[in-house]
Amino acid sequence: MKKGLIFGNGYLGNRISGELGIPIDTHRIIENMVVGTNQYLDEYLKGKSLDFVINAIGKTHGPNSIGIDYCKFHKQETLQSNVSVAEELASACARNHIYFVHLGSGCIYQGDKNGFGYSEKDKPNFTEQFYAFSKATAEERLLELERINPNFKWFDGRLRMPVDDRYNKRNLIDKLKEYAKVIDIQNSMITVPHMISGLRQIIKQKLTGIYNFTNPGTISAFEIMTLYKKIVDPNHRFELMSLGELNNTTKDIRSNCKLNTDKLESAGIKLPKIYEAVEECLIGYKKRLDKK
Ligand SMILES: NC(=O)c1ccc[n+]([C@@H]2O[C@H](COP(=O)([O-])OP(=O)(O)OC[C@H]3O[C@@H](n4cnc5c(N)ncnc54)[C@H](OP(=O)(O)O)[C@@H]3O)[C@@H](O)[C@H]2O)c1
Repeated sequence: MKKGLIFGNGYLGNRISGELGIPIDTHRIIENMVVGTNQYLDEYLKGKSLDFVINAIGKTHGPNSIGIDYCKFHKQETLQSNVSVAEELASACARNHIYFVHLGSGCIYQGDKNGFGYSEKDKPNFTEQFYAFSKATAEERLLELERINPNFKWFDGRLRMPVDDRYNKRNLIDKLKEYAKVIDIQNSMITVPHMISGLRQIIKQKLTGIYNFTNPGTISAFEIMTLYKKIVDPNHRFELMSLGELNNTTKDIRSNCKLNTDKLESAGIKLPKIYEAVEECLIGYKKRLDKK
């Protein structure tokens, strides 16, 4: 693999770094400055002779995690991390001819588009939630950069609800197992081990454009917990929750949607169907638990 650098010392940045052996840059990026180095981004990146940069920076929760509700009450911090930083990093990469991989979000849609799923050609229809608004805005800014700078080569992978094969408080499995009640609404999701193998291929072929980056098909939280009970913990107890009940417990409305993944598959990035991929993650999750 060519020389890359990951910005964003969080869950996904570390998972990608651990599997693909790409170092993580832990500096804070604020208004074009790399805080702690006294250097501007351009100068900093130039000195590193990079082939690609992965932007895994973002605000998806607060220090004490109230999930994306945090964004609704911390709009300025959210815009800074999700929009300004993405734009600054991308612009510096464009000026230095560095391929830019952006971790976008598919939570900018609501619904399943009559069963077809939203494609990359559909305009986001769920921007009333502040986190979704910030991620949709970042995409617009990066598209604008592409229009004005032909040197900007980028991939935007719209992820949703990462499911992993190991413990992490940000793994959807570990979030769901803490809930007494879960919803049974079909959603597009990404399994992290398959996302990482997809990324390896994407970077190798320097795929460009905006892509829905989820496994094909949909699954619900209720189905995941049913599998969890079967594969990991037969004593686990949970109940069904209605969407109305969920909306009463969160401060900002949640996205539930189906994405169409035809574009990703046509580019040769073939991920297993979500139901089978989640089963595979749960089997790996159980094996890790048993080893402890
Ligand atoms: N996990 C998901 O459910 C999910 C789904 C779809 C898309 N994504 C996208 O994937 C990306 C990574 O998500 P994640 O789950 O890995 O989130 P995460 O664990 O919160 O990691 C994001 C990291 O970015 C850091 N950060 C924020 N502002 C920064 C700045 N100005 N300079 C340097 N670092 C900064 C955060 O540090 P502080 O927290 O200390 O500020 C945090 O370490 C985000 O863009 C997110 O929108 C995630």
